[in-house]
Amino acid sequence: MANILEKTNLSFQKLDAVSEAGVQTLFDELFRVADGELLDVGSTDELETFRVRWVGRNNSVKSRVQENWLKLAPAEAKKWVGSSFNICFRKLEENLNSKKATLQTSGAVGRIDLSLPGVTRPIGTRHLISQTYEELYRIFNSIGFSIVEGAEIETPYYNFEALNIPEHHPARDNMDTFYISNAPGYLLRTHTSPMQVRTMEKQKPPVRIVVPGKVYRRDNPDATHSFMFHQLEGLAVDTDITFCDFKGTIEYFAQQFFGPQTRVRLRPSYFPFTEPSAEFDASCHVCGGSGCRTCKYSGWIELFGAGMVDPAVYGFVDYDAKRLSGFAFGLGVDRLAMLKYGIDDLQQFFRNDTRFLRQFP
Ligand code: PHE
Repeated sequence: MANILEKTNLSFQKLDAVSEAGVQTLFDELFRVADGELLDVGSTDELETFRVRWVGRNNSVKSRVQENWLKLAPAEAKKWVGSSFNICFRKLEENLNSKKATLQTSGAVGRIDLSLPGVTRPIGTRHLISQTYEELYRIFNSIGFSIVEGAEIETPYYNFEALNIPEHHPARDNMDTFYISNAPGYLLRTHTSPMQVRTMEKQKPPVRIVVPGKVYRRDNPDATHSFMFHQLEGLAVDTDITFCDFKGTIEYFAQQFFGPQTRVRLRPSYFPFTEPSAEFDASCHVCGGSGCRTCKYSGWIELFGAGMVDPAVYGFVDYDAKRLSGFAFGLGVDRLAMLKYGIDDLQQFFRNDTRFLRQFP
């Protein structure tokens, strides 16, 4: 028996499909073959070939079936042949169209457009705090200070006692301290000053060090406060260090950091571990001292606390207070970076928003 495709070349009379059911079976079979072929179609080009072959205008399966079966069917059979013909080819064209849609969308996904710009991976930058530290190291290294680091977890002895802050001293209240509840006797250092004591314990004079590091205080975060911030401690001790050396050193620092035109001044202050103590101001690097928003119209910017090392501290580290003298300072690195780069919100340093960080390559 001829297969269904060969049968499309035969006239209706030769089909032996005398009943309505017989006609329907023929069309069902034709549809099955067509739909099976359609399933294997894998590209829009193949689909076009399929379309021409099955439902094209000239010499397609559809046109042959129309000529040979439909037109040549006797009057009484025309109705069934016509309706089966319509159902069969309408369904086939429907399937053909949905296949076309699938091929078009999957084709778009699979296609590679070589003219599209590539996905660039952003290259990171040094964090501004790290950059500021590097600048500070450069300045202090250039005048003979070496870098020493210490632990962020400290004992009250090094954080307070040995810095001349005894147990009930009010200075402890100023530094709202984080105590470590599951490690009694330990705290998070509130400043880098404990490293003054630790260094002098280990090292004979002369000492000339800077100590970078994170410090912690129970402050609520806002534009100028954070429970963690960064300091750079400085300590110089020798047999003949004077207040002039102290002032000259921090003046040199200010001019290196903010520019050669910077002027400095010292105001009396108090720290238990320095005597005399001073707050160190620099002339405003924005307005040059004439008064602006940055310096709150005073012409001066408060930079950090400092002073001559209190002889009491030498007592804790077995240094000869009669023979030795020195100075110490504690810079707030975040504050210096904010001043130098005009940043008005301390929290920017800790948000890790790359749109902010990228501005300081
Ligand atoms: N440790 C002090 C503070 O954190 C700063 C300081 C350091 C003052 C060294 C004097 C000398 O506030």
